[in-house]
Amino acid sequence: MTDREDWESRHRAALGGPLGAPSAWVVSRALGLSARDVIVDLAAGRGRHAVPLARAGRRVIAIDIVAAAVADARAAAALLAITADASMLPLRGESIDAIVCVNFLDRDLFTTLPSLLRPGGTAIIETFTVAQRSLGRGPTTDAHLLRRDELPALLAPLAILEHREGLVRDDAGERYVAQAMAMKEVMAGR
Ligand SMILES: C[S@@+](CC[C@H](N)C(=O)[O-])C[C@H]1O[C@@H](n2cnc3c(N)ncnc32)[C@H](O)[C@@H]1O
Repeated sequence: MTDREDWESRHRAALGGPLGAPSAWVVSRALGLSARDVIVDLAAGRGRHAVPLARAGRRVIAIDIVAAAVADARAAAALLAITADASMLPLRGESIDAIVCVNFLDRDLFTTLPSLLRPGGTAIIETFTVAQRSLGRGPTTDAHLLRRDELPALLAPLAILEHREGLVRDDAGERYVAQAMAMKEVMAGR
């Protein structure tokens, strides 16, 4: 089974059902951006973050490799849904105001992510760290878990505005994650 087929079958059981609570930190930081910004929720799933942000009046593009998942998000809120693989994004360089990416780790993505953001654009990232293993649930492989202090290094050359790691408790549950907000600097003369 390919990764995409695996995710299609995982999403199938949940389609049309309630969305889980979003990360409170991710939503608060995304709502803190300019209301004019277009927010791309990358690997958005069924829209756990894209849907509440769109319902709050933000302009949102939800991208996921599973077509049925983003169709669910589009049915729930006024947003643009795109089916695409994160490794081959149909986005122009320096065209994105903001990228949200939660619980999706593809380290190769961080080599292209800075080039997608416009100068002054923002990345808001949250995903599990290796400490999550101690809770006995969630991802377990090195490929899906950030090492300690790995996230800010992956986000270079963006400027880190905020970074923290540890146990988070909110309506989305208890989890060990790294959270970072980073900005593409505006070069003088641009
Ligand atoms: C753990 S879920 C997280 C979904 C959502 N970000 C959230 O926080 O609820 C991971 C998501 O990544 C998507 N995904 C997996 N591989 C992908 C890829 N190569 N490109 C885009 N999306 C992918 C899956 O379909 C799934 O929706």
